[in-house]
Amino acid sequence: MEEKNAKKVMLSGIQPSGDLTLGSYLGAIKNWSERAEIFDCYYFMADLHSITVRQNPADLRRRTIEQLAQYIACGLDPEKNTLFIQSHVPAHTQLGWVLNCYTMFGELSRMTQFKDKSAKNAENINGGLFTYPALMAADILLYQPDYVPVGSDQKQHVELCRDVATRFNNIYGDVFKIPEPYIPKVGARVMSLVSPENKMSKSDKDPNGTVYLLDQPDVIMRKFKKAVTDSDTERCVHYDLANKPGVSNLMSIYSACTGKTFEEIEAEFEGQGYGAFKPAVGEAVVETLRPIREESERLLKDKAYLETVYKAGADKASYIANKTLRKVYKKVGFVVK
Ligand code: TYM
Repeated sequence: MEEKNAKKVMLSGIQPSGDLTLGSYLGAIKNWSERAEIFDCYYFMADLHSITVRQNPADLRRRTIEQLAQYIACGLDPEKNTLFIQSHVPAHTQLGWVLNCYTMFGELSRMTQFKDKSAKNAENINGGLFTYPALMAADILLYQPDYVPVGSDQKQHVELCRDVATRFNNIYGDVFKIPEPYIPKVGARVMSLVSPENKMSKSDKDPNGTVYLLDQPDVIMRKFKKAVTDSDTERCVHYDLANKPGVSNLMSIYSACTGKTFEEIEAEFEGQGYGAFKPAVGEAVVETLRPIREESERLLKDKAYLETVYKAGADKASYIANKTLRKVYKKVGFVVK
């Protein structure tokens, strides 16, 4: 791949553990689709990761396919991007095991996501939840990407991946390319609309805090009109993350959807208060998501097409992934057939 491929490589994934949200879109997918022309891109549905938390099997299957339709609807043309389902490429689990043996207990214990998820799922703190970052490192390193476009919550995992790859390279020579996290300037951490101190999450129990990519316009407008703003008396639209987290979150969303800077937004709503601002953010989101929802709905009627996409994606991904896996197996001393 090194010799023939002049394009830089990009790779990322999303767990189908819930319906895709405005957070997943602004933090990750938007950044992916804007770069399909200049990079060789691999994007997958991280179904293996999602069973670290109990899933309803039928929902998981449905969401995996819906996620593929939404990737395409967000602008990821399957002719230009390799789109696949993680569990269709066994090299992920195979390299995942090897990398488990090069990832330290102490490193895994420090992962914020592990601490958060074990607090939320105290009855099911399983081994997979703990070793998850080693599988994520395998997901990444198999494709030798230059960049991993993610929201800021995944930065720590990408950094661990870099440490594990460097450790491995120091022992065995130049096996893995060391990837860079690629984090958007606005939208890297979209917060809940009802509790702006928490990240907008696809597994949030309160659906009012989260905007889903497939929400209808009236639902989106209702969620934004109800969005929590701040209890300050001046009620002016001004970016101040520490003292006005609710308004600052809405400003980030508006900026990511319209391309306007914070200064432009402050000027636009000067003297108008939150009453005018909240529906304006809602409308900007409705217009951003409308084509995505309409195209997803159209694609979901054509399951046969989606099947051809994920099968072709798995073939292409497996070819690249198996080359890296073979190299790793040889390096660690396995008898390669
Ligand atoms: P996941 O499924 O939690 O989230 C998918 C992507 O969306 C971003 N994101 C957000 N960005 C901004 N604001 C938010 N509220 C928000 N919520 C989610 C995440 O940062 C992420 O980029 N472990 C990963 C999936 C994964 C992966 C990989 C990613 C598995 N293997 C290899 C990159 C490379 C995860 O759980 O993301």
